[in-house]
Amino acid sequence: MPNERRDNAGTSGPRQEHTPEQLLRIIFEYTAKIAHERSLDSVLLLMADMGREMILADRCTVWLIDQTRGELFTKVAHGVEHIRIPLGSGFVGHAITAGEPLLVEDAYADPRHNADNDRKTGYHTKSVITVPFVGSDGSIIGAYQAINKQTEDAQFTSADLERLVLAASYAGKSLESVMLHEEIAATQRDIIFAIGEIGENRSKETGNHVKRVAEYSYILAKGYGLSEEEAEQLKIASPMHDIGKIAIPDAVLLKPGKLSEAEYELMKEHTEIGYTLLRTSGRALLNIAATIAYQHHEKWDGTGYPRGLRGEEIHLYGRITAIADVFDALASDRVYKKAWELGRILALFQEERGRHFDPQLVDVFFQSLPTILDIRDRYND
Ligand code: C2E
Ligand code: SIN
Ligand code: SIN
Ligand code: SIN
Ligand code: FE
Ligand code: FE
Repeated sequence: MPNERRDNAGTSGPRQEHTPEQLLRIIFEYTAKIAHERSLDSVLLLMADMGREMILADRCTVWLIDQTRGELFTKVAHGVEHIRIPLGSGFVGHAITAGEPLLVEDAYADPRHNADNDRKTGYHTKSVITVPFVGSDGSIIGAYQAINKQTEDAQFTSADLERLVLAASYAGKSLESVMLHEEIAATQRDIIFAIGEIGENRSKETGNHVKRVAEYSYILAKGYGLSEEEAEQLKIASPMHDIGKIAIPDAVLLKPGKLSEAEYELMKEHTEIGYTLLRTSGRALLNIAATIAYQHHEKWDGTGYPRGLRGEEIHLYGRITAIADVFDALASDRVYKKAWELGRILALFQEERGRHFDPQLVDVFFQSLPTILDIRDRYND
């Protein structure tokens, strides 16, 4: 990340215009980096840097449209944190509504200027360029906004406008594809969560059970030392651990009392049913979910089901979800039992350390207890 460029605004005095060679180098450098980025925040930051550097702006912001809230927002802005403004307001709102770039020489002489941010930050906006990003279907997905040239007169020219239009057309494609990617990932998360809730609703457990198991699994994964990304994946996949219960008859699933031997044998099949349902997809996230559905009732000492795996034969995700699931089952009312007192639950975890549960994970569980109790209280039924 070219920090020396981001931090020199306004501190190094007036700057010289780039030569065409320098300009090309900036474009090549940034578009290559942007094309390789997967995270929206990083793309937005690189785009802001590229725009700023190309036209020697003091500040450059990438705005996106949030249609549901009727707002424009930016996650990264030079010198400013996270801003939201109503759709259609300010220069950026006008450029997006009109679908055309805008060059303003003196912001305060223009009624379209929204001076809220200046008032908040003590900054003085003078010259402004705003360029909309046009998506591949012709719709507008956001805009570049550059403020104040880093030259003595702080004034942009029509040449600057053309350059920013160029930057917008180069970077817009990458922006669109990263946004699409995030949209798909978010949709997957929502669907997976909804499926998890179906399984739980059948057994009259509340939607919060799914949420809590997800959060506990995440905390245990982080405490164990897994990366943010892996912990996130586990959080998304763990709510599906009991999806196989959709195939268990009500008479068994909702039985208020203790299950008979035969009923329990039937109930145990929810692990294999869940596995069979989920593994067909082959997608990474559903593969993880399939493994969890299959293994969340295995026990560290080999006495669990369906296969009687032991120790590290059980996938780490299965071992983590086992703790999250049992903690939540014990801490909640079920059709067949009342919630346990915390002291009794903790005693069970101590006793089952190295028997039912991975001993190392039980230690993580106890270290993370304050956070876990926080989650329990935040998503209580
Ligand atoms: P679940 O209610 O989500 O419980 C998950 C796991 O939490 C159980 O797996 C068990 O390891 C632990 N657990 C829950 N309640 C208790 C308890 O009172 N004492 C102890 N020591 N552990 C408890 P398990 O036993 O393999 O059960 C799997 C699923 O089978 C349960 O999921 C539940 O849906 C069903 N189930 C188990 N026992 C009964 C029962 O007596 N009556 C009914 N109606 N369903 C039962
Ligand atoms: C920006 O930083 O690009 C917008 C807000 C401001 O002018 O302070
Ligand atoms: C954010 O700006 O908070 C993220 C995107 C959105 O919710 O609009
Ligand atoms: C605008 O007028 O586009 C909004 C904020 C600004 O002054 O930069
Ligand atoms: Fe289960
Ligand atoms: Fe469960």
